[in-house]
Order: sequence, then C-alpha cells, then structure tokens
Amino acid sequence: MSQAPVKVAVTGGAGHIAYSLLFRIIAGQLLGKETPVELRLLEITPAMKALEGVAMEIDDCASPLVSNIVMSDDPNVAFDGANICLLVGARPRGKGMNRSDLLAANGAIFAPQGKAINDHAADDVRVLVTGNPANTNTLIARTHAPDVPGSRFTSLMRLDHNRTIAQLSKKTGVPVGEIKKVAVWGNHSDTQYPDITNATIGGKPATEAVNDAEWLENTFIPTVAKRGGAIIEARGASSATSAANATAQHMHDLMLGSPEGDWVTMGVTSDGSYGVPEGLTFGMPCTTKNGEFEIVQGLEFSDYGKAKLAATIEELEAERAAVHELGLV
Ligand code: NAD
Ligand code: LMR
Repeated sequence: MSQAPVKVAVTGGAGHIAYSLLFRIIAGQLLGKETPVELRLLEITPAMKALEGVAMEIDDCASPLVSNIVMSDDPNVAFDGANICLLVGARPRGKGMNRSDLLAANGAIFAPQGKAINDHAADDVRVLVTGNPANTNTLIARTHAPDVPGSRFTSLMRLDHNRTIAQLSKKTGVPVGEIKKVAVWGNHSDTQYPDITNATIGGKPATEAVNDAEWLENTFIPTVAKRGGAIIEARGASSATSAANATAQHMHDLMLGSPEGDWVTMGVTSDGSYGVPEGLTFGMPCTTKNGEFEIVQGLEFSDYGKAKLAATIEELEAERAAVHELGLV
C-alpha cells in the first residue's frame, strides 16, 4: 500500500450515522481496499469526549487502511487538506417534523463549513452533504465556497434511489441486482419523484413489469418518499445504517465510477437540464467517473412526471428563498 493516504473529513463523527459510516470507510467501502485514509473528524465541543471513544474503537479494529485520525471541534482544522468531505453532522428530525423544519437550525452549520472548505480543503476536494435538509444545505455550503467549483458539492439522494429499487424488488420478486436505471428527481423530501420510466426490471421495461399506475402513484411513490418518516415512527430515531451505506456508496461511485449499464441518483447543482432552475441542488440520474459526474440527458417525462417535477422544483425554490431570508445564501 504505497499510495499516499486520502484525507477524508467526516462531520458529526460521534453521531449515529457516523457510527456506521466510519467503520465502512475503514473496511474499504469508500475508496476500495487498497487506498489508505486519514480520518479527519469534526464534532461540536461537548461531543469531543464521545468522539474520542469512537476513535478508540477505530484503533481497535486495527484496520490497515487507517493511516491517522485527527479530531477537532474547529472546521478549519478538520477540513485542512481534506480531499473528501462527508458533511453528516446536523440535527435529525423527530416524529411529526418535516425535514425543512430543520432549515434554520441546521442551515447555519453549513455556511461556516463551506467557508472552511473553501479556505483549507485540498484543491481536488469533493463534498457530499448528508445532513438534512440535504439539498438546501448543499446550496448553502457551496455558496460559501466560491473558489471551489460548484460541481464538487453534491447531496445525498442515494438512499432514495436504494429505497426505490428495494420497493420494486418487493413488488416484482426480481432481485435488486437486476433492477437498473431508476431515478429520483428533486428534493430529499416528500415531494421527490421516484421515476421508473426508463428503468428495467429483470431486463424488461419496468413499465411492463409493473403495469399498475394506481400502485405506482398511490403506493410506490408515497412509500419511497415518506420512508424516512416511517422509519422515525417505527424506530423512534432516523435512519442511520442505511444512510451511512448510501453515503459511502455515493462517494465510492463518484470517485471510482457508476456501475456499467446503470446510473446513480445524486443531488447535483442544476445546470438548467430538464428545466430545473440553475443553482438548485437537485436529484438527477448521473453517470460518474474519477470524481466527475454527467447528468443523464434526453429522458422523457409523462404529464404526471412533469407535474411531479414541477412540485419538487417549487419546494426547492421555496427553501432557497427561506435560506436567503435567513441570510445564509
Ligand atoms: P445524530 O444526532 O446522531 O448525530 C449528529 C452529530 O452531528 C452529533 O454527534 C452532533 O454533535 C454533530 N454535530 C451537530 N452540529 C455539528 C457541527 N456544527 N459540526 C460538527 N458536528 C456537529 O444524527 P444522525 O442520525 O447521525 O443524522 C445526521 C443528519 O443526517 C441529520 O440531519 C439527519 O436528518 C440526516 N440524515 C440524512 C439522510 C439523507 O438521506 N440525506 C438520511 C438519514 C439522516
Ligand atoms: C431519511 O430519509 O431517512 C432521513 O432523511 C431522515 C429523515 O428525517 O427522514
């Protein structure tokens, strides 16, 4: 393992998601089993002791991939030289809350973190925001990092993508590995549009395999879009391991490439594709390679799909206006 370690910053290092994510990273699920990592963990001051406990457990895994662990309550330190920043640390919602209820509480975290990334991260930095509301937090962080290309900031929609595949597999009995080219458009919220128009299930068009518009509109889409809330109701806490799994998969595929013959959903800065207003962080199907993504172009929308797209655009525009009011963008 002669390669220089990749510096991976993780915020909220003592939180629930990080407690799954960090152990996936040191097992090679982020960058492969040959790439050593330096972990740079950020927490708020009162959680530093708990963070030390997490670092002790990382030590006790004796993973050959871990070259060093840096812990700090200062984003300027945690992001110093970071090649990859996984912005997980933020308050989760509780029962009965919408993710957008977190905008004021969590939005304020992402302005100083964006600035610290701008000022201290490596020139090749890639940033993924998991902390909710993830799309608009990404917009905030990006706005405060004017020297970093906007395309380097992405938000987590992979959990929604995975939920889409899982529900289709349950409905059809086809294994998840044979379900390709699903997409989840828009916001990581109840307005998202899980879209199977271009998907295949066991090699057949998904629209033939699931020829049931009533189920798609009234069961499938709400189940996927409201899955986070259903988990909070059932578990009493928001999803953690599935979120960590998706966070690792998103960055893994961005750096090492999306699967051949398939695509992945990522929240990316809109360039105006599909009429999505420029600058919104929007879930889109993408192909990825070597840290770069391309939005899949040329996809068609039904009238129903156009209405779903418009609704999630409207919500993200409202979130952008709300954080503008708060002085965050
Ligand atoms: P958690 O409360 O268990 O952990 C969050 C951690 O972040 C805490 O340890 C806290 O001290 C830390 N933190 C708070 N402010 C910080 C700051 N300014 N800098 C660094 N660390 C800070 O929460 P969790 O279950 O790990 O969830 C984290 C976030 O991820 C929540 O906002 C949750 O809603 C979100 N989430 C997103 C998705 C997604 O698909 N995008 C999925 C699940 C959860
Ligand atoms: C999820 O989708 O599971 C997370 O965003 C947590 C939440 O608040 O729903």
